[in-house]
Amino acid sequence: MEQQSGSVLVVGGAGYIGSHMVYRLIEQGKDVVVIDNLSTGHQEAIHEKARFYKGDICNREFLEQVLEREQIEYVIHFAANSLVKESTQNPLKYYVNNLYGTIVLLEALVEHHIDKIVFSSSAATYGQPEKMPITEDMTTNPTNPYGETKLAMERLFHWVEQAHGIRYVSLRYFNACGAHESGEIGEAHNPETHLIPLVLQVASGKREEIQIFGEDYNTKDGTCVRDYVHVCDLADAHMKAMEYLQKGNPSAIFNLGSGTGFSVKEVIEVARKVTKQPIDAVVKERRLGDPDELVAASEKAREILGWSPKYDTLEDMISSAWKWHKNPRF
Ligand code: UFG
Repeated sequence: MEQQSGSVLVVGGAGYIGSHMVYRLIEQGKDVVVIDNLSTGHQEAIHEKARFYKGDICNREFLEQVLEREQIEYVIHFAANSLVKESTQNPLKYYVNNLYGTIVLLEALVEHHIDKIVFSSSAATYGQPEKMPITEDMTTNPTNPYGETKLAMERLFHWVEQAHGIRYVSLRYFNACGAHESGEIGEAHNPETHLIPLVLQVASGKREEIQIFGEDYNTKDGTCVRDYVHVCDLADAHMKAMEYLQKGNPSAIFNLGSGTGFSVKEVIEVARKVTKQPIDAVVKERRLGDPDELVAASEKAREILGWSPKYDTLEDMISSAWKWHKNPRF
C-alpha cells in the first residue's frame, strides 16, 4: 500500500470482524485508532498497539474529541448491530445504532474533511434473490430491518458523496467465519447465534447438540446453503479497498464471499472431521426469514480490487475457528 499521511480509524474495532481488521492493519505497519462502545465488542480483542477510545458513534461530542486529537486519513466502519432476528424484534434499535450512528459519524467526517471510508455491508441487502450466484447489480430487497439499515447506509453514502465528496467502498459480506492464526482473537458473540461457533461449542462440550433449522429447503440436502468466507480474507479485502480509494478510484460496492455454497449439514460434517468429535445434531423448525441459498459472485472484487481469499476450503476455515474455540481468551 502507498504511503499514508495519517492514521486509520477503525470504528467498531473491538468486534469480531473489526478486531481482525485492526490486527491486519498493525501487521502491515499502520497507525491505528479504535472507537468502540463495547456493547457487543470485547476490550480484550483490541490490539495493544491500537489507541482505543471507548464511546458511541451516536455521540457527536465524543467523535469530535477523537477527531480533534487524532490525524485520521481513512475510516473503516464496522460498528453495527447485526442480528437478523433481534432486528425484527427491535427495529428501532437497528435504525438508531446502524443508520443514525452512521449519520452522526458522517457529519463528523464532513466537518473534519476526512474523505475516504470503507464500510461493512451485508448479503442481507439482497433479501431472497431469484438467481445464484448473486452479483452486485441484482435487485436489493431486504427481508429484515438489519438488511434494510445496511442498504439505507449504502444509499446514504451515495448521496453524501454527491454533496460532500466522501468516496466509499461498501463491502457486502456473506458468512464470515474463522479466527486469527495467533489464537489471540476469534468469534465471540454473546449470545451466539451463528452456525459455525455453535457447532464448535458442541464439539468442545459447551453445548449438548446443534439444532438444524429446517431440512425442507429447496437445496441439495434440504438444509440452507451459505457462502462462508474467512475473517482474515475479509480484512485483506478492506486493505485492498483502502488502496483502491488511495489511487483515486470511484466509490463502489463489492460482494465478499468464496463463491461456494455449503449446506448446514455439510458444515456439521466437516466440523466432525476437523474436530474428531461426534457433534450431535437434531432437526428443528425453520428459523424465520432464512433464505434457501445465498452464494456470492465475487468476481468484481477479484478483478477490480485484486482480492483473492487465501482460505479456500471449508476444512481450513473450520480448523482456524476450532483453534480459537478450543481455547477462547474471552
Ligand atoms: N443455523 C442452524 N442452526 C443454528 C444456527 C444457524 O441450522 O443453530 C443455520 C441457519 O438457519 C442458516 C445457517 O445455519 O441457514 C447460517 O446461519 P448463521 O446464523 O450462521 O448465518 P446467517 O446466514 O443467518 O447470517 C449471515 C450473517 C448476518 C447476515 C446474513 C445475511 O451472519 O449478519 O448472513 O443473510 F445478515
